[in-house]
Amino acid sequence: MRVEILRTRAEIRKRVRSLRRVGESIGLVPTMGALHEGHASLVRRSVRDNRHTIVTIFVNPLQFGPSEDLAAYPRQLEADARIVEGAGAGILFAPSPPEVYPEGDATFVTVEGLTRGLCGQCRPSHFRGVTTVVAKLLLLASPDRAYFGQKDAQQARVIRRMVLDLGFDAEIVVLPTVREPDGLALSSRNRYLSPEERTRALALSRALAAARACFASGERRAKALLEQARRSLSETPGVELDYLELVDDETLEPIDTVSSAALLAVAARVGPARLIDNVVLGASRVVAAEE
Ligand code: PAF
Repeated sequence: MRVEILRTRAEIRKRVRSLRRVGESIGLVPTMGALHEGHASLVRRSVRDNRHTIVTIFVNPLQFGPSEDLAAYPRQLEADARIVEGAGAGILFAPSPPEVYPEGDATFVTVEGLTRGLCGQCRPSHFRGVTTVVAKLLLLASPDRAYFGQKDAQQARVIRRMVLDLGFDAEIVVLPTVREPDGLALSSRNRYLSPEERTRALALSRALAAARACFASGERRAKALLEQARRSLSETPGVELDYLELVDDETLEPIDTVSSAALLAVAARVGPARLIDNVVLGASRVVAAEE
């Protein structure tokens, strides 16, 4: 099977209409490309759940701040198309910016509350960019299900809220973070790291694991759990912390004690890369990725 590459809104609309006419289910996997095994796991899951899977690749300018890595963000459509095909999806939508943001565009989607903390503090316009583009992709692809990774936990919660509030008829499926054997969460931005920086970056998953072990031994006080993670992080020099927070997994509000599912989330700069990672303490709503 060759993956079919569509470039324009007109093309994707026509293709989706033809699938819908015969009542076939559609899964959507929105990405910014530079695909890795984490994306492949989303695609494989969608292929399993739906008759057709549309993967989108669009480096969305609206979700990058002025001093962020929009220009440097890796673009590799041919290699990505092979990964999409290998994971079993048949349709790849790779629009140019004007197809997504027509000249003079003035319509944006903003989710309040959930976007205030965590990454929203350091990247004030980021989630407005994410929800605007995801809303457009949901409208174009009209999927039954859309797939996101737990690594971007806040993004997944914000998208769920938007889908509920705007009444999109799509189920949002969130799949577990895929990690390297040594614990590093897969990210397109890992490729910015030198071998030495990559070793330093392991401090993030190690800190989360330290707090999780503390939670497993019965600790429920946020202060003690955060202290455990902070101490672990401080053992590695050259990891510049943006935030380390323990929040309610649904509201993303800081908590004092873990009584229901809680999200321990970290963001830090290591060399040229800003990396994020998280772990859920207590019962999680993330779907198990049995493939
Ligand atoms: O997670 C990402 O890659 C992006 O934020 C997304 C959801 C594709 C929107 O551009």
